[in-house]
Amino acid sequence: MRHGLRLVATGAGRTFEAMAPPLAPAAVDVPLDALWMPFTANKHFKAEPRLLVAARDMHYTTADGRHVLDAVAGLWCVNAGHCRAPIVDAVQRAVATLDFAPAFQMGHPQSFKLASALAGMLPDGLDRVFFSNSGSEAVDTALKIALAYWRARGEPERTLFVGRQRGYHGVGFGGISVGGMPLNREAFAAQLLPHVQHLPSTHDLARNAFSRGQPVHGAEFADALETIIADVGGARIAAVIVEPVAGSTGVLVPPVGYLERLRALCDAHGILLIFDEVITGFGRLGAPFAAQHFKVVPDIITMAKGITNGTIPMGATAVRRAVHDAVIAASERGIEFFHGYTYSGHPIACAAGLATLQLYRDEGLFQRAASLAPVWANALHALRDAPHVIDIRNLGLVGAVELAPRDGTVGARGLDAMVRCYWEEDLLVRVTGDTLAFSPPLIIDETEIAQIVARVRRVLERIA
Ligand SMILES: Cc1ncc(COP(=O)(O)O)c(C=O)c1O
Repeated sequence: MRHGLRLVATGAGRTFEAMAPPLAPAAVDVPLDALWMPFTANKHFKAEPRLLVAARDMHYTTADGRHVLDAVAGLWCVNAGHCRAPIVDAVQRAVATLDFAPAFQMGHPQSFKLASALAGMLPDGLDRVFFSNSGSEAVDTALKIALAYWRARGEPERTLFVGRQRGYHGVGFGGISVGGMPLNREAFAAQLLPHVQHLPSTHDLARNAFSRGQPVHGAEFADALETIIADVGGARIAAVIVEPVAGSTGVLVPPVGYLERLRALCDAHGILLIFDEVITGFGRLGAPFAAQHFKVVPDIITMAKGITNGTIPMGATAVRRAVHDAVIAASERGIEFFHGYTYSGHPIACAAGLATLQLYRDEGLFQRAASLAPVWANALHALRDAPHVIDIRNLGLVGAVELAPRDGTVGARGLDAMVRCYWEEDLLVRVTGDTLAFSPPLIIDETEIAQIVARVRRVLERIA
């Protein structure tokens, strides 16, 4: 299928406008060798490059002139849709007004305003915000804050972190240490953080395949924390870090009661609970944060991606006021916390963030995600009888279709499906192993949901 000029729906205003005409295929002619691409099969990509040259609302324009439906919000981040005018305008104004301001010992109004705006939408009690530039940095910041907090509280022996198998917390040494993706750790195993233990993954295909929303079985996976506590002593543990819904390892929705159990165990032993909400933040589940959706409030929340609608890199770590106050109060030095980035609270990122939060509010996009969630669930689960499908998972506007691996080669069928979606069906999906993951912009409509599912089905019917 190849599209030319056509009409597409724009943001929640639902006006219609023509997309930019396709570019001539020759319009983009770039040398490919110098760039070492991240998390990419470089040789495979460079043999048949998939180049995006423009975007608007729900679609990318490719270098060969096609309009590709974006079923992953870029990379789980463009929650309000692409190139939205209020964000573009804010960024353009900001870059022409205050290009950069030092973040150390100096400030600028926008970063304070954005921190306040975030505090206003976070769960009650989490109202102190530290800025960084990515999810990975937000996670490393959270881990450092946890250690600083326990030193400030006079419990410096609390140095152990508990992460989870199949957890993804970015690629800093802190993040890969608490993360549980074997391939992300393999080459660096000799130098990971020393005091880390992992909970088991909650993924349980045998009992929970094709669950709609939260799976029924598996709250007891949280009891592994009790075992770790019994083993090392609760007073040695600084923090437990989990994604409320694990995204990057294939959309693993927490079993009913699981997060509640983790919270209760942390409370019983005074352990900080960190939710990594880099994917689940900003409306993905129909509430501002997963903490509000699940009604389980952690002590620290990390965020990135949707904070600026993906426009400008930014991360943030929000903490309970008591955590912040303990670190600030305990310090006898001028600087209370020896941590920060040149671009913490960069003025342009802050402008993008403020415009993004306003756009989410103006268009009611989180509510929109909540009301579309049942439509999304029905559409996705209709793929149950498609070839190769062994599980379907969903919550809010996120979902996954897991395929049976091709004999002996984990990931081959998944990659084939993702590449064919792009070339043959003008559809951008994400693949992890043999799982196709979906997290469309929250401006998606029912027609586009149906298009995603129809296109995926056609690919599954074609591939070996
Ligand atoms: C839960 C989670 N944490 C951290 C990260 C890392 O974010 P970044 O790639 O911005 O460093 C990601 C990225 O996908 C993520 O999903």
